[in-house]
Amino acid sequence: MATNSIHGMWSTRLAFILAASGSAVGLGNIWRFPYTAGEYGGGAFVLVYLLCVGMIGLPIMMAEIMLGRRGRQSPINTMRTLAREEGRSSAWQLLGWMGIISGFLILSFYSVIAGWTMAYAFRAAGGWFRGIDVTAAGDMFNGLVGDPERLLAWHTIFMVMVVLVVARGVAAGLEKAVRFLMPALFLLLLAMVGYGIQAGDFGGAVTYLFAPDFAELQGKAGEAILSAMGQAFFSLSLGMGAIMIYGSYLKGDASIAHNTLIVAGLDTLVAILAGLAIFPIVFANGLAPDSGPGLIFQTLPIAFGEMPGGALFGALFFVLLLFAAWTSAISLLEPLVAWLVENLSFSRVRASVLAGITVWLLGIVCLLSLNAWSEIKIFGKGFLDLFDYLTANILLPLGGVLIAVFAGWLLSRSSSVDELQLGEGLAYRIWRLLIRYVAPIAVAIVLLNAIGALKLTGLG
Ligand code: PHE
Repeated sequence: MATNSIHGMWSTRLAFILAASGSAVGLGNIWRFPYTAGEYGGGAFVLVYLLCVGMIGLPIMMAEIMLGRRGRQSPINTMRTLAREEGRSSAWQLLGWMGIISGFLILSFYSVIAGWTMAYAFRAAGGWFRGIDVTAAGDMFNGLVGDPERLLAWHTIFMVMVVLVVARGVAAGLEKAVRFLMPALFLLLLAMVGYGIQAGDFGGAVTYLFAPDFAELQGKAGEAILSAMGQAFFSLSLGMGAIMIYGSYLKGDASIAHNTLIVAGLDTLVAILAGLAIFPIVFANGLAPDSGPGLIFQTLPIAFGEMPGGALFGALFFVLLLFAAWTSAISLLEPLVAWLVENLSFSRVRASVLAGITVWLLGIVCLLSLNAWSEIKIFGKGFLDLFDYLTANILLPLGGVLIAVFAGWLLSRSSSVDELQLGEGLAYRIWRLLIRYVAPIAVAIVLLNAIGALKLTGLG
């Protein structure tokens, strides 16, 4: 067994936590979580989301880190090696391939949204938000989204930023960046929550997020549960190999359970804080919580426009969000780049550029679906929405089930005991129960239910 990865190793235990949180915390927490929770009426969705994080996300994150550290290669080769060692079919490497496809699709739209945050950082700094009202904020957002050339420019800049870091090797560059950016983002979010308490409808937001009203889910419970589960996978970066490959750079003596709790805890905290920052503004301004992907871009400018020092605050906020998106995007590209280096002997630079260009092209399809190609619908969705739905709600959970099955049923008990270093006590037994039964069965039921619903609508 290799004790080191050829792609580099985290220099300290803290470095893994930083990098994995850098992957987990991103647009998923601050952009996607609030608007998805808003689409499903708040509290009930949040409750299901938290259950998914605890019962499905935690055990699968442990499994991904564990498999990565045991394999010490790109997810494709890790799965191939582990399957061979455990006497299982080499077809398990397909799991790695599926992850690459998910990563490609996610990054293609992720980069477009990251572009929005860049545009908004400039707008904030330029004082565009001063005294802005709901209608003006809506118009500003629609103006950006309706302009393919601007979107293309930002998308291109973002992809260049991602390729630059991945080409240098993530273990080298990432540690330093995340170390101060994450705490800074966290503090700024707290300040935004403070603003919500002072100037927004904070009470309304708390009730909305934490008092589950199951009547909100009437007629769309299956869809809501699928979305909450998908959000958990997306936000925790699970099911596509990002956390697996970061696990492969983790030193042998670090505690996987401990690291998982910290990373998942931080990720969840940031999502909840984002909700507590955004919904007070939504309710105080009479905005609709279910206004979709534009939610934070249509609400935050109003707040920045009102508060003293809002231009500076706003710019800082969107810049930090951009950095959070950057560190997530890096982890989306890394599995493929590592594979290209391992199997095709590409240099990291060549591999990153090639992967980056492919994603960039696919991103153009996404950004055009917001304007010039808005008529083109597949299953009733434009490309950006379709890629988002397909990855978060289907491919990531599917990847997660397969990881759970492999880690819980096919990897020998002694291998997982050895790798998790929890002994065979209660903690290990709980993990094993969750990974063998709870996680795969829960995900399978939700997925099958969704497929059933799809068929029904197809026939109806
Ligand atoms: N977790 C990231 C976010 O919340 C997105 C991501 C998904 C990153 C899957 C890697 C893998 O923004």
